Amino acid sequence: MTSKTAHKAAPKFSASLLNSVEVSLDALADSQAIAIGFVASPETPTTFSFPANGALIKKLEKLFEINLRDELVFFCATGKAGELFEIPVAADQMQADRILLIGLGDATTPSIRQAGAALGRKGRGKATVISSICVSNNEQLQAFAISVQLGAYIWTQKTGPTQELPQFLFATEKPEIILDAGVIASAITRTRDLIHTPSNIKTPLWMANEAQKIAEENELEIRVLAGKELAEFGGLRAVGNSSPNPGPRFVEISYRPRGAKKNSEALPHVVIVGKGITFDTGGISLKRPYDIMMAMKSDMAGSAAALGAISTLSHFQPRIRVTVLMMLAENALSGTAQRPSDVITQYGGKTVEILDTDAEGRLVLADGIAYAVKNLNPDYIIDIATLTGAATLGLGRQHAAMYTRDQTLARDFFDAGQRSGDRVWHMPLVDDYQQALESPIADLSHITAKKKFSAGSITAALFLEQFAGDHTWVHFDIAGVARSEADSGENPKGGTGFGVRLLVEWLTKLK
Ligand code: BES
Ligand code: MN
Ligand code: ZN
Repeated sequence: MTSKTAHKAAPKFSASLLNSVEVSLDALADSQAIAIGFVASPETPTTFSFPANGALIKKLEKLFEINLRDELVFFCATGKAGELFEIPVAADQMQADRILLIGLGDATTPSIRQAGAALGRKGRGKATVISSICVSNNEQLQAFAISVQLGAYIWTQKTGPTQELPQFLFATEKPEIILDAGVIASAITRTRDLIHTPSNIKTPLWMANEAQKIAEENELEIRVLAGKELAEFGGLRAVGNSSPNPGPRFVEISYRPRGAKKNSEALPHVVIVGKGITFDTGGISLKRPYDIMMAMKSDMAGSAAALGAISTLSHFQPRIRVTVLMMLAENALSGTAQRPSDVITQYGGKTVEILDTDAEGRLVLADGIAYAVKNLNPDYIIDIATLTGAATLGLGRQHAAMYTRDQTLARDFFDAGQRSGDRVWHMPLVDDYQQALESPIADLSHITAKKKFSAGSITAALFLEQFAGDHTWVHFDIAGVARSEADSGENPKGGTGFGVRLLVEWLTKLK
């Protein structure tokens, strides 16, 4: 009986919870609550405005015989983003028994996101229908709707009554905005599902199987390599052969627009390499103190975000080619684990001296990057990885560390981060530190033997750069942002799905 429970499939919260409705009273008749966004005037804080669909809001006030501004004055509303007041209402033709007044802060996109997350949380785990008349600006409406679904997200392996799903209806004349938002939001929540899944379930094989399902659902080609097929992937094998569970996997997923030829050279080709460590014990260089190991089921978040991003492209159909390489392995402590002082041969032939088996991410990524260079003729190589604790120390949990020599690309990704909500910060590739990666016995050492360098996130990036050749390359160290320690705002405690919005925003604008 217990084994049956333990193997119960992870609940899927990856469906879109977002739908559009017409801007009319009739369209709101069946929802159980109606959310209305408000802004407090910065000069006179007791003056309130409702930026979206004024005429419809007036009709609601009339129908429910209520004055929303008076209610806000009564509640001493401040208008802070995400502030929420529930007003009981009743009218014959409407199911709704409450209006939710939601503060939109200064009405900038970050505030709008916070407000959306607060609305999402209101519906979390409930079988309820909430309609929304909150945001007027179309670009902000997409951001808002995505945040609603992110706030509503839940992941649990509890048995007993299944968690219910809310539905959110957005009053808009542009239904395609909500459709797009639903595609992005579902990709993020699917990514979160993968990150939240515990590592006794989430083996490299399990990840490859999930990727297979996602690829099939989204018209993507997929190829999975295992065992002897990985002969050339020295980094992936050195890390992944520590685990019989059941060994590493290399997954290659490709997108091209409908109707485009297989190797259509006319379209720019983006390769995204994702770190997919399904659990990181540190290996023989065991992680200490042990409590930092607890978060290491999330060490595959980079590969999950890359998968989430490519899964949206069959919907958006950008005129580009994209290949995702998922580098899947478990970094276990065992008799077949690699040792500190081993020398391995990466894909493409470079030899690397292993000094610390806990610096495993760069070894699997190096194989992926070298594979892309040798086989895929990429115009851009992107890698995304929960690579170093140092990235978190430097930048905290709101920005990913971004490394690239290409200033234009850095600016484009910075902008994509600001627009999408997955913010990144351009970090320096400091050439003076290159000597830190010199090894007396191999082409490279994978970490700095000499303690004087620090800069753990930078030296990791410099190591990866060695494998990118002359290609345009950008590296995202998402160790700080892939996981949230608190259940708040858009994020649940656990996997955030960071990177999906960033990559989708950049890929869909790329020419
Ligand atoms: N997966 C970790 C990095 C990490 C740490 C991610 C904390 C998320 C939260 C990575 O494999 C690792 O262990 N990095 C080491 C590198 C060191 C041994 C050079 C680190 O950052 O301590
Ligand atoms: Mn590690
Ligand atoms: Zn790791």
